[in-house]
Amino acid sequence: MQVGIDKIGFFTSNYFLDMVDLANARGEDPDKYLIGIGQKKQAVIPPTQDVVTMAANAADKILTDDDKASIDMVIFGTETGVDNSKSAAIYVQSLLGISSSARSFEIKQACYGGTAGVQMAADHIATHPESKVLVLAADIARYGIGTPGEVTQGGGAVAMLLSANPQILILDDQSAFHSENIMDFWRPFYQREAIVDGHYSTNIYIDFFNKTFKDYCEKYQRQLSDFSALIYHLPFTKMGLKALRTVIDDGQHSAKLLKEFDYSKQYNALVGNLYTGSLYLSLLSLLANSVDLQVGDRIGLFSYGSGAQGEFYSGTVSDGMKSSLLAAHMDDLLDDRIRLSVPEYEEMYANGLPMMGGDVTFNFADDSSRFVLFGRKADQLV
Ligand code: CAA
Repeated sequence: MQVGIDKIGFFTSNYFLDMVDLANARGEDPDKYLIGIGQKKQAVIPPTQDVVTMAANAADKILTDDDKASIDMVIFGTETGVDNSKSAAIYVQSLLGISSSARSFEIKQACYGGTAGVQMAADHIATHPESKVLVLAADIARYGIGTPGEVTQGGGAVAMLLSANPQILILDDQSAFHSENIMDFWRPFYQREAIVDGHYSTNIYIDFFNKTFKDYCEKYQRQLSDFSALIYHLPFTKMGLKALRTVIDDGQHSAKLLKEFDYSKQYNALVGNLYTGSLYLSLLSLLANSVDLQVGDRIGLFSYGSGAQGEFYSGTVSDGMKSSLLAAHMDDLLDDRIRLSVPEYEEMYANGLPMMGGDVTFNFADDSSRFVLFGRKADQLV
């Protein structure tokens, strides 16, 4: 039986900050952000959205009533959850009207949480072929005004429906992982912003990629030429490129991998980091934009969560995958966003989440998403 990703949906805020504006405001050369870091825009999350509403908005776009009745597990991967006790999954289950016979829970290991959910879902479906699992990966990446990490902020949610006979990506059930206790990035309870040593984190990430890729190739007798594309968790797009460069050479196949990597980073460069969802936004980007990818092509996926956990696994493109549908879904979201000036972004950043005690001077009527935190919607959370 084939198991994998049957549907994939995305949501992010309709506000963004242009990286040229940010570079100018911070006295940096714009090329440092555009080329050196590899980011063009970043999503700015308004006080009407948190990980629950963003995940509900992402899943709402892909689920039919039949799906909602068949889902028997909802897994929510996040590192910016809204409660230390109650899971974000329960809120989404109820907002979307998903069957109450489902198991719903949240999991955490930094940016690795989405992949932990995908693997758990695949194992569950392998023994319960009739079931469908909703995996949600949503986060808000905050580093602080004027910090080196500011250019790598962002936010959003990816929702994936996993099932037997999937339409998008068939998982190979082949995977290698590595974990070690490392302090490269963390966020203690008393902090809203992450503590990060970005250069150290990048080195660990590359090291974990090399370890897991090598281990995977040895375990399953595979080599670079078996992959049509390698995709990465992308806190900023240059980070994935650095890892890719460690395994390619000047040959033709490497040129192909670089080209596919270019497709896989397009949406991430426009949204910024969304932690748990970042690898899956990159998957969406590859599938929606690549002009060469064929049914049956093998994709290698590298997932990384600081602290740290790495996993390299693989899947093949299913014959039900429709790039034009995925591209239309993304264009709808990304084409009409509102560009904030740097002072407007700083004000929204300072307001932050009203649930966390920020002063709110935001016009809630400006958020027309179906699920919002406060405001005029019938489906509002609070
Ligand atoms: N033109 C072109 N390129 C330029 C340039 C210019 N004018 N000026 C500088 N550059 C290049 C530099 O050469 C450098 O390139 P290389 O890395 O290829 O050498 C690049 O721009 C960045 O320059 P710096 O290293 O000097 O930049 P910095 O010190 O300001 O910091 C950063 C960059 C370390 C990425 C910083 O932004 C940061 O700490 N970001 C957050 C880190 C992060 O996201 N870590 C990921 C952790 S994983 C994750 O997502 C978390 C999780 O699991 C929860």
